[in-house]
Amino acid sequence: MKRLSHRARCMQPSPTLKVSALAKKMMKEGIEVINFGVGEPDFNTPEYIKQSAKQAIDNNYTRYTPSAGIPELKQAIIRKFQRDNGLNYEAENILVSPGAKASLINVLMTVCDPRDEVVIPTPSWVSYESQVWLCDAHPELLEATMSNNFKITAAQLSAKVKTLSNPKVLILNSPNNPTGMVYSREELQSIGEVCLENDMIILSDEIYEKLIYDGNQHISIASLSRELQDNTVVVNGVSKAYAMTGWRLGYMAGPEAIVKKASEIQSHTTSCVNSITQRACVTALDEDDGSVEKMRQEFSRRRDFMCSGLNGIAHVNCVKPQGAFYIMPDVSWYLENNQRGITSSEELCQYLLTNYHLALVAGSAFRAEGFVRFSYANSLDNIRKGIEWFDQGLQSLLKKS
Ligand SMILES: Cc1ncc(COP(=O)(O)O)c(C=O)c1O
Repeated sequence: MKRLSHRARCMQPSPTLKVSALAKKMMKEGIEVINFGVGEPDFNTPEYIKQSAKQAIDNNYTRYTPSAGIPELKQAIIRKFQRDNGLNYEAENILVSPGAKASLINVLMTVCDPRDEVVIPTPSWVSYESQVWLCDAHPELLEATMSNNFKITAAQLSAKVKTLSNPKVLILNSPNNPTGMVYSREELQSIGEVCLENDMIILSDEIYEKLIYDGNQHISIASLSRELQDNTVVVNGVSKAYAMTGWRLGYMAGPEAIVKKASEIQSHTTSCVNSITQRACVTALDEDDGSVEKMRQEFSRRRDFMCSGLNGIAHVNCVKPQGAFYIMPDVSWYLENNQRGITSSEELCQYLLTNYHLALVAGSAFRAEGFVRFSYANSLDNIRKGIEWFDQGLQSLLKKS
């Protein structure tokens, strides 16, 4: 279609939202589908946060707010960074946006010129690549292998950067979607050094910070030195930690020059975040009724159960995730050894949805062909049943139709 921009013609819908929509449609038609495609907690937003939103409406907090966020929320975010990450920021370093997704593209729009290169370690969350293209910059994928627990090394990054002409940004995501992997202090330190040597901005997506297991600790790369803080924009939000995906609030903290410009860009695109959500998020960040920890513990139980269940299936392997609520088994054996002509993770997911009513996301969506992603934002009963169906589905591939 001639009237569409090149940018629009290149865009594909988010594969994770697509799978979820298809699964929901089948459920509406009365089909029992187990949905492991979802990227959101299955819990309700904690009561204390909902109460605060109701109060905000009654107090008529219903108007436009300052574009960068209300001062009370910025202060709550500053306190959060001090408390959780040992990071000190001023109000000028903070920008509140309608979701971490919006924060990320605001940063990329602010720092990327055409032909700038943005290094994205893979497997990676689906939207990074699209967002980089939307900013007319160039995504440069860097594969983190399963044998290295899906983490890139500083040496790998250094070698990659040497092949580039305009390396500008590294996107880091720990805990990671889709692998659940968490970078250690030492790993971050050496990756950070490579970025500093090459004058690269680090865009650190820490949205899964609160969902971390087995005593692992979340470290923000920005907290490792003053120099790293000055070269990093940290993105975080309330969607995953507080089960608030529909409320739409994310935030960034970074060097004033970047945040100021990102805020100006936002003032022309979305104006501000929903005023009621902003009030509720002051409460979410400042108070704690134990709900976040309860959710984390429940996710941890499900992860243990799911990981041992999946690893119990013949020829399926997964690395135990350390954070987030995803698990990504290697199913490549079944793609190479089946009687149904299924050779890609996408075809496998289509087959499992149609025939076994299991909604999964194909690894290819995350640049991880040979894998599928399960979200364990689902009940233990469904996880138990889902693993059985998955096993049956995989074994059916070995028989001729
Ligand atoms: C890694 C990652 N970053 C950012 C986001 C966006 O979160 P938000 O709901 O705050 O836009 C998601 C959501 O799935 C995610 O998985």
